[in-house]
Order: sequence, then C-alpha cells, then structure tokens
Amino acid sequence: MVLSILQGFVVLEGLDGAGTTTQMRLLCERLDREGRAHAGTFEPTEGPVGRLIRSILARRVMALPLTVAMLFAADRHQHLAGPDGVIERANRGELVVSDRYLFSSLAYQSIECGFKRVLDLNEGFPLPELLVFLDTPVAVSQARLDRRTHRELYDGAGFQARVREGYLQAIEHFEGSGMRVLVLDGNRPADEIHEAVWTETARLPIHKV
Ligand code: TYD
Repeated sequence: MVLSILQGFVVLEGLDGAGTTTQMRLLCERLDREGRAHAGTFEPTEGPVGRLIRSILARRVMALPLTVAMLFAADRHQHLAGPDGVIERANRGELVVSDRYLFSSLAYQSIECGFKRVLDLNEGFPLPELLVFLDTPVAVSQARLDRRTHRELYDGAGFQARVREGYLQAIEHFEGSGMRVLVLDGNRPADEIHEAVWTETARLPIHKV
C-alpha cells in the first residue's frame, strides 16, 4: 500500500456526538497559546458542495447513497486542493487540524455503498500525519445528541453502532501506512482527552518549508 502522508495534517474523528468539535476547539486554543501557526477546519465544508451535503443531511434535499458518497469526495477535493485549502496551508508550515476527513466517509458511506467503493472514490487523497479517533460509546454519543434540537440522517443508535465498526475497519485498513493513530476513550472528561491529544500533537515534528 503506497499512500502519501501530508505532513502537518491532523484529523479528529468519531461518531455523531463523540466530541470531535469540542476537542478541535481545545486543540486550536492550545496551539494559539503556544504561538504555533495552525488552521482549524472541518468537513462537510462551508463551500457550495458542503452546503448541499448539509441540506441532504437535514433531509431537505434527497440524494442516493452513492451520490452522497461522491459529494463528500468532491467536497474533500475542494477542501484539500482548493485555494487556501489543507494542502496549501500544511505546505506553508501551518498545523492543519480537521474535524472529520475521509475516515468519516469510510465509516458512514460504506454502510450503504460498501467499503471498497468508498475507498475508490477517495483514492489519491493524502493521509494525515496523525488520526485521532474518539471512541465514544454509542449510548453516550446518543444521549448527547438527544439534547440537540435537530435530528439528522445518520442519528439512529443502530446506524451509529455500524459507523463505529466502519471506523475500526478503516483504522485496520491503514495499518502499516505510516499514519499515526490515537484511539481515545471518548467517555473520559474533555480536558483529559485534550491532554492526550495535545501530547501526541506536540510530538509531531515542526515541518520547515
Ligand atoms: P458534523 O458537521 O461533524 O456533525 P455535527 O453537525 O454533529 O457537528 O458532520 C455532519 C455529518 O456528516 C455527520 O453525521 C457525519 C457525516 N459525514 C459523513 O457521513 N461522511 C463524511 O465523509 C463526512 C465528512 C461526514
């Protein structure tokens, strides 16, 4: 397996309600305090394709599962290669932290489209240097989602249990790729999780351009 790793790129992943957005905020605040050039970003993006995806997630627009998988890949391409995108920023020496990336597609879209099909759609995209998977139990993630007012396409507990399996399969698939993977118990307090994420992130070499 020959896959390129994008130096200075860190990805946070987890089920809906796993806490990736909180960890992303804590990590970016820490990088700020440490005076380290960085950029926080997320998928689906705020670009035109990302907005269309959010309409589909909110069930305002209908699309076939494979169409959705293709849209996520298209949004990702723009996110990576577009102006001021992940690749440009990482190559500029910024530490780019993304809330979700192709592992989300492998975990969520594979359920309806198959792992191989989703992998093919995402072929050629670089892997991050570090992947953090917040392994929050389905019941805990669901309880957090219950406090939200809106429900989305993938919210159900049965579906989320399969998403977790998809994440584990994706992690296994990339074993030996050189990407560092940190699996954390998402049930721990947010500040403890942050410390673990920070320890691993601080170990990443600072890449000179
Ligand atoms: P996100 O914005 O992280 O969720 P939230 O609104 O809870 O903050 O992600 C939106 C949803 O999109 C989430 O259910 C995961 C899903 N998703 C995929 O199914 N495939 C993908 O490739 C990505 C990036 C997200």
